[in-house]
Amino acid sequence: MKKTVLVSGGAGFIGSHVTVELAQAGYNVVIADNFSNCDRTNYNGVCEILGEKLPLVEMDFCDAAAVERLFSEYKIDACIHFAAYKAVGESVADPLKYYGNNLKSFLNILEQARKRGLNVLFSSSATVYGEPEKLPVTEQSPRQEATSPYGNTKQMCEDFLRDCVAAYDGVKGIALRYFNPIGAHPSALIGELPRGVPNNLVPFITQTAIGKRECLSIFGNDYPTPDGTCQRDYIDIVDLAKAHVCAVARMLDGKMKKPYEIFNIGTGRPVSVMELVTAFEKVNNLKLNYKFAPRRAGDVTAIWADPTLANEELGWKAERSVEDTLAAAWAWEKKLAGK
Ligand code: UFG
Repeated sequence: MKKTVLVSGGAGFIGSHVTVELAQAGYNVVIADNFSNCDRTNYNGVCEILGEKLPLVEMDFCDAAAVERLFSEYKIDACIHFAAYKAVGESVADPLKYYGNNLKSFLNILEQARKRGLNVLFSSSATVYGEPEKLPVTEQSPRQEATSPYGNTKQMCEDFLRDCVAAYDGVKGIALRYFNPIGAHPSALIGELPRGVPNNLVPFITQTAIGKRECLSIFGNDYPTPDGTCQRDYIDIVDLAKAHVCAVARMLDGKMKKPYEIFNIGTGRPVSVMELVTAFEKVNNLKLNYKFAPRRAGDVTAIWADPTLANEELGWKAERSVEDTLAAAWAWEKKLAGK
């Protein structure tokens, strides 16, 4: 019997890529999304890649009655929760928006988990590590006090899941801590669709290259790193999506070593902003208009993962090179522009 996985936020950037990988691995997938921060492009792209129309429930996870109806209607074996707001700056300006939405929606899912004994996968973030004292970071590296309400919701949701797993029979949980997901599906049918001016580096780069933005500002070139720009662990979106398939299989096949587990999902390879820009120019054979600008408030100097635990326990490893990923990101931007 095929198992069914619910993907909340399944029409978004990460959710749509995870949906494709799950369906291709043989799972039934139910997508639920309220389209508050995306349109139907990625949902339509997912259906085109898979050649079938996946079940789509348009709903808000803050609506407890709607969540109850969803779980009554479908027999869900595992739930992956992506539906959340994700802009760091906006969360500082409007914390109640973030606490209201990101916490309430997850509590409604956990309520169903308590009632029905569910497997829950939470999409966490490397942001929980703050500015690490030692690099690379392992899952044992201490979490630092969050510097934004967004980061705080990630820490709080991890704790909600840990406590519910400890308290309620039959509830199991995995938190995946993502480093910096970038790129797009090789089909160029799904990808990142930022609304307004992008906050994140790669969509800003591709929009500058296509001519939608005049110039990329590189925030800070005086950091204590080899070239003065910040270092991150950029992880290909398809590689990241595959980690979810491994984690879901681990939960559903009874392979977990503890009922609540945490895994870093990264490559283990630090890449600076300058290196990323240079790699983008080289692989796509173009020149990017960029300038150095002051540091951005809240940025950490450097962070990258020790992915050993995920490699060994999930049997998962990041495979794509940063060049392939940047070529896919560019193909997606060109597709959006109709080029
Ligand atoms: N950067 C620029 N110019 C830009 C955008 C970004 O130089 O226009 C730099 C940033 O300063 C940073 C690097 O590119 O050094 C990466 O920035 P992103 O915004 O792409 O990613 P972050 O590492 O800041 O973001 C990640 C996650 C968030 C999380 C955040 C917490 O994507 O979900 O870390 O710090 F909240």
